[in-house]
Amino acid sequence: MKRTKIKELLKTAPVGTEVVVKGWVRTKRGNKSIVFIALNDGSTINNIQVVVDAASFDESLLKDITTGACIAVTGNLVESQGQGQNVEINAGTIELYGKSDAETYPLQKKGHSMEFMREIAHLRFRTNTFGAVFRIRHAMAFAIHKYFNDKGFFYLHTPIITGSDAEGAGEMFHVTTMDLKSIPKNEDGSVDYKNDFFGRETNLTVSGQLEGELGALSLGDIYTFGPTFRAENSNTPRHLAEFWMIEPEMAFYDLKDNMDLAEEFVKYLISYALENCREDLDFLNNMIDKGLIDRLNFVLKNDFVRISYTEAVEILTASGKKWEFQVGWGRDLQAEHERYLVEEHFNRPVILTDYPKAIKAFYMKQNDDNNTVRAMDVLFPGIGEIIGGSQREENYDKLIARIREMKMPEKDLWWYLDTRKFGTAPHSGFGLGFERLILFVTGMSNIRDVIPFPRTPKNAEF
Ligand code: 4AD
Ligand code: MG
Repeated sequence: MKRTKIKELLKTAPVGTEVVVKGWVRTKRGNKSIVFIALNDGSTINNIQVVVDAASFDESLLKDITTGACIAVTGNLVESQGQGQNVEINAGTIELYGKSDAETYPLQKKGHSMEFMREIAHLRFRTNTFGAVFRIRHAMAFAIHKYFNDKGFFYLHTPIITGSDAEGAGEMFHVTTMDLKSIPKNEDGSVDYKNDFFGRETNLTVSGQLEGELGALSLGDIYTFGPTFRAENSNTPRHLAEFWMIEPEMAFYDLKDNMDLAEEFVKYLISYALENCREDLDFLNNMIDKGLIDRLNFVLKNDFVRISYTEAVEILTASGKKWEFQVGWGRDLQAEHERYLVEEHFNRPVILTDYPKAIKAFYMKQNDDNNTVRAMDVLFPGIGEIIGGSQREENYDKLIARIREMKMPEKDLWWYLDTRKFGTAPHSGFGLGFERLILFVTGMSNIRDVIPFPRTPKNAEF
């Protein structure tokens, strides 16, 4: 007989029929004559209750069915006598796939800390919380592809190994097959990459944007959705060394179009979660963050505030707050400033635009004031920056002047500059940090808990 997933079984509830379910034992209770097993197969947060008439089963089999064990149950689906579930299975046969050592199984007790869960990331999927988080993560990935596909965007796969540093921040992981014990050097002492695998210096990408722009300036609207890597030594609840980013890039979009798309896009994702992940969200709302669902609805219903960086600095200066990091025109905003704007001053998501050019990347479109660029950062409650983007500099002369001013490796960017030589066009794009989105949608508080196997400084287990 074919196995039915528990999600399907609870939805269709074919009472009176024989069914097969397979899953992992969450709890077992009962007495000498009757045993109740709560079984979960990961398809839903809900367990199915298996009722076992102990007299009809081998005593040693029942003894081996402990928390964490994996079993297959064949039996009749009936309306439940007890409270807490509508239907349950009267076990006919039970096959034990895998015993679990009751003594050493790490998920016995309730109320483990998140820190402990990270140490057992290979098993944490089996908890209600992480099951909910990773089902929601899947749903969000699917919704991202659906959103862009429905809008006529093309999914473009940009390289993971690259020779360029898109953000110009230099926080890259090198990619090499050289023997680290004897690295060949040039006469001037610099590393000789001639005989390295690619015959040149390469690294893991920090962003697919530059290659994404090449696609947009031909295909029109594209998006990337892939892993990105940053070797910044930021040990915060918002930073990963390996994270996933969604980067749409659109020909003929100005900054206003870019902001409109960003706002529509995240609102679409939030409403998709509310419509399709309700049980998991209800669980997280009860157990992790009581304000979660209200906050999701609040963001959906309200327009994002749109102000310039300069206006933001004025608000922060006038606030009279004591900041840990100084506020002043030209300085980058820190998390405390972003959170004040979003959580206290405006009390809703904020899009900041037109940042000083000195604190933003070389590719951003320069404003006529010669001081600011057409950047936009979307700031979210509890998260801070969730999206960073801009209109791009499409003017060849201005772009090359900026590249020289910032001492970027001009000759490595010949292909990027070519697009400004041959049929350049106004265009814009942004990057959404996937894990920061998942933090917001799940109400989890540490980014290490919304990616299956986090990579952070001094941590690459699993
Ligand atoms: O602001 P960022 O650095 O922008 C870019 O990379 C542009 N190339 C995007 C573009 O215009 N196509 O990064 C974009 C977003 C941030 O807003 C944040 O959500 C996320 O990526 N992010 C990180 N998430 C987790 N860990 C990190 N270390 C992150 N760095 C950035
Ligand atoms: Mg940014």
